[in-house]
Amino acid sequence: MQIVEEIEGSGGLGGLARMTEAIAALETRRTELIAQLRSQRLASWEEIGQACGMTRQGASRRWSQQAQATSFGDAAAAYRRGRPPYPESAVDWLVPGTARSALDLGAGTGKLTQLLAARDLTVTAVEPLAAMREELVAAVPGVEVLDGSAEEIPLGDGTVDSVVVAQAWHWFDAAKALPEIARVLAPGGTLGLVWNIRDHSVPWVAELDRVLHRHTRQEIDTTPSIGTPFRLVERFEVRWEHPLTRAELLDLVASRSYVITMPAADRDELMHQVIELLDSHLDLRGRRKLSMPYVTRCTRARLT
Ligand SMILES: C[S@@+](CC[C@H](N)C(=O)[O-])C[C@H]1O[C@@H](n2cnc3c(N)ncnc32)[C@H](O)[C@@H]1O
Repeated sequence: MQIVEEIEGSGGLGGLARMTEAIAALETRRTELIAQLRSQRLASWEEIGQACGMTRQGASRRWSQQAQATSFGDAAAAYRRGRPPYPESAVDWLVPGTARSALDLGAGTGKLTQLLAARDLTVTAVEPLAAMREELVAAVPGVEVLDGSAEEIPLGDGTVDSVVVAQAWHWFDAAKALPEIARVLAPGGTLGLVWNIRDHSVPWVAELDRVLHRHTRQEIDTTPSIGTPFRLVERFEVRWEHPLTRAELLDLVASRSYVITMPAADRDELMHQVIELLDSHLDLRGRRKLSMPYVTRCTRARLT
């Protein structure tokens, strides 16, 4: 109670604003603490729920998305090794030829940043997790890499021609991210979203997904609606294959957010099942070099 009085000070509107700010900071810290407890497997959702005065389901529903969004740092190196890049035709489509600058938002280890940097563009990468930024700086030297989030982009108003979000839109709070992206875009600028989706029409990929989804399933909307102030929402898809080794396929699995945040025993069991599949499936066994088929799905919208 004494702390509350200290924050509130002499009360009034100023006191209310200080309290609101303090509550928001505490809420952020609580989310970080829960993410840390989960990623280091120091507490179960049951225990976290109890500590927060909630049921297990309530706590996991409220925080598991955030805990997973902040989990990538724990597997940043596996992410860089195992995750695919994006096909050039998708990058061509996402970033108009007239753009002079591009922001890679939720840039991770720089899979897309690298492709943007190879073009005639001034590229900025924004990524909230330090471990991912470290991998990014090493992989794509010379690009401006900033700590920030989609909800608070550390750039001035109207400063970029194109914002691109690769494999990350589903982690953002769209209601806050959309106006923030509109703020940093120059008039007529574009927002591009892209996801690499494993092609389940290939039998061994369908089998791999059955193994992964035995443990958990992450539903992602890869054709999200983009509202005002954006217009001219367009879609584009391209099929391609990413060559990878057996070890890289295991990294691909290990770098999935729901795998990173799994209890250690479940994760070991899952990795064991993937190795079994690699050893037994007719299309995979004995092969050191594989090829993962993808459908890359893109959305593009223009700022009015
Ligand atoms: C699946 S990774 C994709 C990384 C990279 N764009 C790529 O294509 O490889 C998702 C990334 O989004 C980041 N992220 C999660 N929530 C975010 C937010 N609210 N704002 C910005 N980035 C966020 C994560 O830290 C992570 O690096």
